Amino acid sequence: MHVELTDGINWVGAIDWNVRDFHGYETRRGSTYNAYLVQGEKTALVDTVKRNFANTLLASVDELTGLDAVDYVIVNHGEPDHSSALPAVMEACPQATVVTNEKAVATLEGYYDPTDWQIEVINSGDSLDLGGRSLTFVQTPMVHWPDSMVSYCPEEKILFSNDAFGQHLASSHRFDDQMDLSVVMEEAKTYYANIVMLYGRPIAKAMEALGDLEIEIIAPAHGVVWREHIPTILDAYTNWVACRPTAKVLVIYESMWQSTDCMAHEIVKGATRDGVEVKLLNVTRTGRTVLATEVLDAAAIAFGSPTLNMTLMPEMAGALTYLKGLSPKNKAAMAFGSYGWAPSGPRAIQQYIEEMDMKILREPLTAQWRPDEQAREACRQAGAMLADYAEEAAANAESFHP
Ligand code: FEO
Repeated sequence: MHVELTDGINWVGAIDWNVRDFHGYETRRGSTYNAYLVQGEKTALVDTVKRNFANTLLASVDELTGLDAVDYVIVNHGEPDHSSALPAVMEACPQATVVTNEKAVATLEGYYDPTDWQIEVINSGDSLDLGGRSLTFVQTPMVHWPDSMVSYCPEEKILFSNDAFGQHLASSHRFDDQMDLSVVMEEAKTYYANIVMLYGRPIAKAMEALGDLEIEIIAPAHGVVWREHIPTILDAYTNWVACRPTAKVLVIYESMWQSTDCMAHEIVKGATRDGVEVKLLNVTRTGRTVLATEVLDAAAIAFGSPTLNMTLMPEMAGALTYLKGLSPKNKAAMAFGSYGWAPSGPRAIQQYIEEMDMKILREPLTAQWRPDEQAREACRQAGAMLADYAEEAAANAESFHP
């Protein structure tokens, strides 16, 4: 199956309706692995797909041009969701030369045996003349791996952005204007938070490097192609790269005998007011993928756990470890939790908050056994403090940088 982006440039990727786990990210709407065939006098395949979809890709390329007619395979990124069909493609397309950067060559050598492949190594700024069309390459390290780059077709003003601007979203539609934009943006945000939130600075740098390009189509490696709502996704990325705070407070917690749960609800009570969005997220009910997405644009977060075995509860530890890896910027936080004889759970949370380099709004808020009225009032006050901070941070959102 192929879908035309413009005359001579077609989507030839694969739709993965069933994938639900993408290295720990819950892909509830599936995904796509987008590859594109660019035809000038010569033909280039931009990226490949996951190995189990190699035949789908090859059949689509074959529909458009014989497999012998593929002159180049552009590897924008060596992660296997884009490259694991490459051995099958190189076998089926004997005339093809792999075109990629030095770091991606190392990735390909790590995963496959490219001894018999013709490989042309390019640098940032190099162009490949296809006869009537060309592709210019810009390296975008850490968007998403050190080997990542994008390809730009100046004649058609199409940016093949690989992981950037992607969404894990399986659909029969290929373009942003064919779907409910709120669904596309929700999945773009979830993808950003869970795949590249850690790399805000490199992404901001890449966006700067691409700033002068005239772009009419952004063709990412996952999800739908942007042709109608490019300013919307670029504006969203401008906010996401800095994890810019909105007036949003999160209470993320795990409980054992409902005491920490009681504290969490009291914090929510204290934070609730007009103009501030407050969300209570029990980690045993809310998956990590959603948590990371909620954190992306939150201003202030209360993380809670009681003490279990002299440390925090295990689901909370998992959630915090996942968030720490994604390194959300520009957040303020506090720890809370109940205890019987030692407040080690809240203290362990405080350590995570410090390691995530979040602004610490107060010392851990603790309650022994069942929170009494004094403890509950302290929780409500802490909630009000979180809301105050969120309002102020949101009012100054533009002062936050990656
Ligand atoms: Fe879609 Fe970093 O691979």
